Amino acid sequence: MSSINYSERIPNNVDLASDRRLQRALEHWQPAFVDWWHDMGPAGSAAHEVYLRTATSVDRKGWANFGYTRMPDYRWGIFLAEPEAERRIGFGEHSGKPVWQQVPGEYRAALRRLIVVQGDTEPASVEQQRHLGQTCPSNYDLRNLFQINVEEGRHLWAMIYLLHAYFGRDGREEADMLLERRSGDADRPRILGAFNERTPDWLALFMFTFLTDRDGKFQLHSLTESAFDPLSRTCRFMLTEEAHHMFVGITGLARVVQRTCEVMRDHPNRQARELGVIDLATFQRYLNFHFSVTLDLFGSEVSTNAAASYTAGIKGRYQEAQIEDDHRLVDSVRPVLRFKEGAFVHEEVSALGAINERLRDDFIADVENGIARLNRIIRSFQVEFELRLPHVAFNRKIGEFSEIHIGPSGEVMDAESWQRKRYHWLPSEEDRDYVRSLMPCAITEPGHFANWIAPPPRGIDQRPIDFEYVRLD
Ligand SMILES: [Fe+2]
Ligand SMILES: [Fe+2]
Repeated sequence: MSSINYSERIPNNVDLASDRRLQRALEHWQPAFVDWWHDMGPAGSAAHEVYLRTATSVDRKGWANFGYTRMPDYRWGIFLAEPEAERRIGFGEHSGKPVWQQVPGEYRAALRRLIVVQGDTEPASVEQQRHLGQTCPSNYDLRNLFQINVEEGRHLWAMIYLLHAYFGRDGREEADMLLERRSGDADRPRILGAFNERTPDWLALFMFTFLTDRDGKFQLHSLTESAFDPLSRTCRFMLTEEAHHMFVGITGLARVVQRTCEVMRDHPNRQARELGVIDLATFQRYLNFHFSVTLDLFGSEVSTNAAASYTAGIKGRYQEAQIEDDHRLVDSVRPVLRFKEGAFVHEEVSALGAINERLRDDFIADVENGIARLNRIIRSFQVEFELRLPHVAFNRKIGEFSEIHIGPSGEVMDAESWQRKRYHWLPSEEDRDYVRSLMPCAITEPGHFANWIAPPPRGIDQRPIDFEYVRLD
């Protein structure tokens, strides 16, 4: 069961051949996906041969498979993690009952929405990253970008499969619409705000994969808890792919910080920008921006929707089974940061209503680990600078803090003062222009790296750093 059948048009481990109708429906969707990839996938990349990993099975050994592929020939398919025998619902009002192999009628709309929202983020990020290949800092980095792009494409396949297999006609319609929306488009934008922002340069890409892909990790984790077993198994396999995206993010940021510090150590009397590296103040502003935009993805601090989907068993908490409580939360409370009468207060609310907030806190703790790692690099060079996450209320567009103006240290301000300081805290066009000026063209010769980033400590798949990861046409 765990091995993937590549002899079929759509590689899969769900025995697609035994369901002719579903197979035909997906084969009908496939050309539209390929068209979308040609239109919106990595620009100018169709003829490159890329050293990509492709899953051969869903267990750990299945990832050992690397080889050169032209991306349009990548074998996108449908891979679910192995079923867990006798799996039972782990939370909510159906706790303890067997998990669902079909969608219960009463939860159909909520589940479909959840799958569509998750599915929409996958092609969106490919669209956002579409032009980055033209400014890559190395051949190694170019491969990593492309690996992420093909896997986000596969994540779309994962959600499409669920829509086609379990939601009938409206599922098929949603599947078609996932290829019609476009990131940043005024008329038919992607569903979530962060996925309509631009990813115009490689610092933004590393921030995005460090932070926004990490939001993905936490969303997927809470969906692996779902009582709807096919969704759970789908997300469990997606998480193994997601790990690489976050690796690209944190190691990319670490290499940027390292390079800046090296150059500053060697030229103590000069400015980072004169030396062609990214100054840490600009780095901090990018961090402020991407962090605040990503926090919005978790939704409102107090949410009846999140409470309802927890109670229903649709979406759990991060590592639900390891939490020591009754997993129903009917009588539990949780303190949530709110803004009341001009000040921050911790208010006890129902733990059910605070499900989003809990996931956001888990996410922030995970991000803090990454920031500590970056600060250790800075300290090791004896550079006087400390990166800090901005206050959770800073620059928020959704939820409790969307109407107020808060500085990165949590200072309460009026709108005008906030606007005046805005570009101390968030990247200005000038910052972005500077960062882009460091990346005038693609550096693709194996073993060469742009001046603004350190080489990685090791290559991919135990290959050397100067390995030809992408053979350009
Ligand atoms: Fe993804
Ligand atoms: Fe991802």
